[in-house]
This record gives sequence, C-alpha cells and structure tokens, in this order.
Amino acid sequence: MNAGDGIVLGLSRGRLLQQSLDLLAETGLQVHTPREREMLHPTNAEGVQVLIGRGIDIMTLVARGAAHAGIVGSDLLLEHEPDNLHQMLDLRLGQCRIVTAALERPDAGARAAGGKMRVAAKLSHIAARHYSDAGRQVEIISLRGGVETAPLLGLCEEIVDIVDTGRTLRENGLVEQDVIARVSARLIINKAALVVHGARLNPLIADLRTIVAERTGAGD
Ligand code: PRP
Repeated sequence: MNAGDGIVLGLSRGRLLQQSLDLLAETGLQVHTPREREMLHPTNAEGVQVLIGRGIDIMTLVARGAAHAGIVGSDLLLEHEPDNLHQMLDLRLGQCRIVTAALERPDAGARAAGGKMRVAAKLSHIAARHYSDAGRQVEIISLRGGVETAPLLGLCEEIVDIVDTGRTLRENGLVEQDVIARVSARLIINKAALVVHGARLNPLIADLRTIVAERTGAGD
C-alpha cells in the first residue's frame, strides 16, 4: 500500500458487496468501477481507496494494517478471532444465522458407525466451541464448502453452517436445530490505523453510525 496519508477500505465481495456500496453511497462515498476483483478502486473522496476481496482476506488485511478499515461478516470474526482490530459497528446488513442441522430423515444418509458423532463445518472453530460448551464429544470434519451435502453423502450426522433463507438446507433434506449465533456485517478498523488515520476514519464511522441508527429506527 502507498504509505501516504490515504486510507484503504476493504469490502467483502459476494452478497454483502452491493449493500456495502449502497451504505457507503449514503455517506457520500462513491466507488468508481466497483467490480468484484481483488484490486484497488478509486473513489470520489481524495485519499480513500476501496479494495474488494474475499471476506476472509479483507479481515486479514485489516488485522495486519494493509487495509485500514473494512466490512466483513461477523461469522468470520467469531471463527478467526483476529487481533489488532476493533469491531466498530454492527451495520445490520447481511443478517443470517449460524446453526446446527441434521437430516430430516436420518436413514437417508449416514449410518452412525458407533463412536463420536461427526459434524461437517466450514466454521470449524465455532462448531468445536459449540459442541464443547454443550458437553458433547464430536468429531469436527472441516470442509471449504458444500457442507450441506455432507450428511446425504454419509460423511456426517450433523452440520454447522450459515442459514439465510433456509433454502439450501431444505434442498438437502436438512432441518435446522440449534441457533449458535446471529450474524451481520461489521465495520472493522485496524487499531493502529484508528490512531494514525483518525481524522479520516472517525467522520466515516460517525456517518455510518448515524445512518445505521436511522435505518434501524425506520424499521429496516
Ligand atoms: C451460504 C451458506 C449456505 C447458504 C445459505 O453460502 O454456506 O450455503 O449461504 O443460504 P440460504 O439459507 O439462503 O440457502 P454462500 O452463498 O455465502 O457461499 P459460500 O458457501 O461460498 O460461503
């Protein structure tokens, strides 16, 4: 990054991106050519650039100070517990939940082979904490994606995953069980950047806080 006095704001690509861009637009910040590519995009604000990337990479860049602020899902923050950043604001975007789920008809999938129950999860630390807190001994099977198909394939008896509309669970014959956590997009700020670049970051934080409060008050 250019070490000048400008700042880099990281946005997560995917379902959060358009909502994040709309929110920033309400503060007056317009991103030029916001394509979903890992590149720096100029904005209408001098000294403010936007980086669009995978949520997990945005989180890492902000934690390491390569980006100064970012918008990521709270699921990533719960899973990875990164140091060196402030979770500054719940932006109330991208609301969904982390749940456990199992086959509606257990005979449609795996035969438990005795021993520990198997749980497939992408959010494997969250899953491990959940079962451990409940005093249940399970084997966590970590997958990068496609978690919902795992029970039908006989890989596991339960899964931990994110549910939004519930459609993916239904399509895979699964029913929701416990809600582990509610998820929403968070504004994250690198701790050192908040000191060094407070003059730029604090007004942005204040604007976002006001807009989110107004939206929430309006029942959005
Ligand atoms: C999430 C999640 C489910 C799906 C749930 O994946 O892992 O697969 O959304 O949504 P639904 O309840 O509306 O069906 P996402 O699309 O974010 O992609 P990912 O698996 O790459 O994270």
